[in-house]
Amino acid sequence: MQAIRNRQALTELVQQWRRLGETIAFVPTMGNLHAGHLALVKQAASLADRVVVSIFVNPTQFCPGEDFDNYPRTEQADAEKLAAENVDLLFLPMLAEMYPQPAMVSLTVGELANRYCGNSRPGHFDGVVTVVCKLFNMVQPDLAVFGEKDFQQLAIIRRMVADLNMPVQIIGAPLVRESDGLAMSSRNGYLTAEQRKLAPVLYQLLQRLRNEILDGREDWDDLLEQYRQHLNAAGFKTDYLAISRVDDLLQATPKDHDLVILAAACLGKTRLIDNLPFHR
Ligand code: PAF
Repeated sequence: MQAIRNRQALTELVQQWRRLGETIAFVPTMGNLHAGHLALVKQAASLADRVVVSIFVNPTQFCPGEDFDNYPRTEQADAEKLAAENVDLLFLPMLAEMYPQPAMVSLTVGELANRYCGNSRPGHFDGVVTVVCKLFNMVQPDLAVFGEKDFQQLAIIRRMVADLNMPVQIIGAPLVRESDGLAMSSRNGYLTAEQRKLAPVLYQLLQRLRNEILDGREDWDDLLEQYRQHLNAAGFKTDYLAISRVDDLLQATPKDHDLVILAAACLGKTRLIDNLPFHR
């Protein structure tokens, strides 16, 4: 595996592969890699000749007061994990490589960014799509793999690619869970031992809620309110809990069939997100 910080070197290597007719899969990350990220890398490797992974903790997607400065940076350990997965190229741009000058032009997401995570983190998705667009322009992949863990992010990136005619195929990879059901996340490392024990309750409640819907409950507003209270009573501070349509993430009604329960809840200062797609 080659590790490259410089954009010019990245372009040269990618062009070399292109001349050989090889296809390129890309997995953008912010590092602190866990089994969830490695599942994305494995999926990427199964779909293309070459795999490029980037690690860049993107400041523009952190809101004021969020954890940008303390975000776990574990470059050496990450590089070892990726080398073991036979990744071809690890792109590790410095801040000045990604943002050499204050940006005059950037991307803005419409209505889809005003709900769920976007409502609690204003500007977050604008930062995400802008950096992903820049990374796509640098790597020029045939396809890019994103985790369904960040369900809204994946939906927004699909819309970016469709709306802006970007020549890259977006692949969604299933969420990976710890053995007790907690969705894997770099932020799980912030949890205290006590919070970590409690954290799987989030997924347990999502499953219970899904089961009640599958059993025929149609009073979804009451049901959601009840489950918000369950979450809060368990020790979480619920940010949002919603039943949405998979295709456009609008609020679902009992007339809809392809659904996803979306949730974000805080344990202390740590904000956990989770989701559960299902068909009824
Ligand atoms: O999902 C992430 O880790 C980030 O939002 C991404 C897509 C790498 C953009 O910085």
